[in-house]
Amino acid sequence: MYDLVRGPFVWVAFIVFIVGTVYQVVRFYALSRETSPFRLTKPTGGPPKTEAPPAEPVLTFGQRMRLSIAGTSPVMITVTTVFHVLLVLTPIFVLGHNVLWDLAWGVSPPSLSEAFTDVLTLIVIAGGVYFLGRRLFMARVRAITSAYDYAILAIATAPFITGFLAYRHIFDYDTVIILHMLAGEIMLIAIPFTKLVHMPFFFINRFLLVHENTFGAGGTRIWR
Ligand code: HEM
Ligand code: HEM
Repeated sequence: MYDLVRGPFVWVAFIVFIVGTVYQVVRFYALSRETSPFRLTKPTGGPPKTEAPPAEPVLTFGQRMRLSIAGTSPVMITVTTVFHVLLVLTPIFVLGHNVLWDLAWGVSPPSLSEAFTDVLTLIVIAGGVYFLGRRLFMARVRAITSAYDYAILAIATAPFITGFLAYRHIFDYDTVIILHMLAGEIMLIAIPFTKLVHMPFFFINRFLLVHENTFGAGGTRIWR
């Protein structure tokens, strides 16, 4: 079992993750088309204006931040930023992972100390607990929460919980490390085919699609 989970299953997980993500990007291009660059225009028509419209207020950066989600939900924004940054970066620098990369390929990314990645792991788990608490106890979030949201939260945090248990040798190590590898593989496979697809779609949505929340110079595509 151990050899299967550590060998072929890892291959399957990475291949499904990469091919699945490419499939989703190709699908996006098939379902969208090129348009002129993003430009917001005021609606025209209506009765002729008799007086000049009031000047648009010029907001400072601080005022714009206070009006944005960072101002209305600062705790959520902080937790989600830390959670996401560590969720992506921590596994890359875990010594236990890099030993396996080294054994398989002879190369690996640099590793952080185990004590440090252990703390980062705990921070990710704490972020997961915060999201769980929000979904359980905030009425407006609970109202739009279904079992699917809890399942996604479990899939995203399980590799961290089981990795932590394995590193600390809590419970039977041989069982926990198999569960950890399975949890990591399930998470990778889930990314292209569940709402975790928001990972590639964040970039598609914010940089390629034309809408009022597009970043930077504006997107170039709209849905067909
Ligand atoms: C895909 C197959 C995977 C394998 C074979 C694997 C293997 C391992 C191994 C051998 C350890 C070291 C445990 C120890 O110190 O005894 C470990 C720790 C860890 N893994 Fe994985 N892992 C996988 C996927 C993942 C994924 C996808 C994530 C997160 C996205 C993840 C997060 C972690 C973390 C955070 C730790 C360190 C826990 C701590 O130090 O508290 N792993 N993993
Ligand atoms: C790297 C690109 C990613 C970006 C830009 C991104 C962005 C977002 C955004 C905007 C949200 C919505 C609300 C919130 O901030 O919590 C969200 C939620 C979430 N993301 Fe990501 N995400 C990324 C990758 C990932 C990955 C790789 C995973 C796990 C495999 C993940 C797991 C989650 C989870 C579990 C939630 C929901 C939290 C809840 O239950 O409220 N994200 N993400």
